[in-house]
Amino acid sequence: MSDANSINGRPLKPSTLMMGLGFDPKLSEGSLKPPIFLTSTFAFPSAADGKRHFEGITGKRPGGADGLVYSRFNAPNQEILEDRLAIWDGAEDALSFSSGMTAICVLLLTYAAQGDVIVHSGPLYAATEGFVAKWLSKFGVSYVDFPAGASREEIDAVLAKAKAKASEQGGKVCMIYLESPANPTNALVDVEAVKAARDAALGADCPIAIDNTFLGPLWQRPLDQGADIVAYSLTKYVGGHSDLVAGSIAGAKKWMDPVRMLRNTMGGICDPNTAWMLCRSLETVELRMQRAGENAAKVCDYLSKHPKVAGLGYLGMITDARQQDIYDRHCLGAGSTFSLLLKGGEAECFRFLDSLKIAKLAVSLGGTETLASHPASMTHLSVPDERKAALGITDNLVRISIGIEDPDDLIADFEQALEHV
Ligand SMILES: Cc1ncc(COP(=O)(O)O)c(C=O)c1O
Repeated sequence: MSDANSINGRPLKPSTLMMGLGFDPKLSEGSLKPPIFLTSTFAFPSAADGKRHFEGITGKRPGGADGLVYSRFNAPNQEILEDRLAIWDGAEDALSFSSGMTAICVLLLTYAAQGDVIVHSGPLYAATEGFVAKWLSKFGVSYVDFPAGASREEIDAVLAKAKAKASEQGGKVCMIYLESPANPTNALVDVEAVKAARDAALGADCPIAIDNTFLGPLWQRPLDQGADIVAYSLTKYVGGHSDLVAGSIAGAKKWMDPVRMLRNTMGGICDPNTAWMLCRSLETVELRMQRAGENAAKVCDYLSKHPKVAGLGYLGMITDARQQDIYDRHCLGAGSTFSLLLKGGEAECFRFLDSLKIAKLAVSLGGTETLASHPASMTHLSVPDERKAALGITDNLVRISIGIEDPDDLIADFEQALEHV
């Protein structure tokens, strides 16, 4: 069995564990790779086993399911995937979902009850902000937000406001939800400060969740800074080939179990084929992210010196001292997704985007190929103008996600596209 996580007491690294963790070839005819288990249900060895499994699933018996029951709850490919996802964040447990948004919505629905207040950093991915503001509000859940770069004092003030609001509404502050770096500004949240403020104002019963899609799992490990739950759009770097949609959360079992119960009821688990593809992606996630990160550093170095470039929102070139301090304490790499500010506005950005020959004009990020888009007129078109201005989503901003192509080819592509600006 390849489940040994250490050799002579020396823990194995995630990149090694991705090749075998959670799968025993002996159980599948010696197949080196896990088969895709296309089944909706699982045969019980005996009626008593069936009863015991359901006692675990329904929570009648503590400890959860000790066998597979039905594919809405879990299945072999998803179990292997979840074991491997947990490794990267140093989490006790992980849950997989059919999209990043399913993961985030099921997580928020699990912890929010009528009258409760969610405290969140801003900006968030637009669909997450929309779920909190438009959908959870239908069930009497409200929110208070704070800007991503907020100081400890500012976070203290927001938590005090949220507590007062919750007690007026007869509820509690049910979750602190962060996204760092924020999409699309790349602003970082001080997770250590949020944890200290949470401990002081609310105690450890109010979980801190964080969307780690932009830097995870390689360049940021927020559980190490005091977050309780980490959320991902696996569609991005983890899937990494722009060929699937999936999501996950990870954290201590006590935080995962209630979410698992709601997922068991609602569905929303990742399908077996996607889980298999994600296991394959996890074998190369470190290699891909390392290469993309190196490429981004070279491309940004070139772009930063170009006369038609007004600025870069790249974590490897932070200009703000507070953001740099957060970066130094929280991040292990600058990532490969950044914003490019051109001299000009929408017309110049469109000429640039329409002239690209290697980079593809598409939203999303974290794939093997380089993508570029114009947030103000695409992903963030529906954001009101004054909020766009406050967030720095200007007409001259192009968002770029660098892939694993040859870096000199990418630079040549940006060079010729800038000639058309
Ligand atoms: C930061 C962030 N979180 C969550 C999501 C949602 O993920 P998905 O598209 O997999 O539902 C996205 C998608 O772009 C994202 O960028």
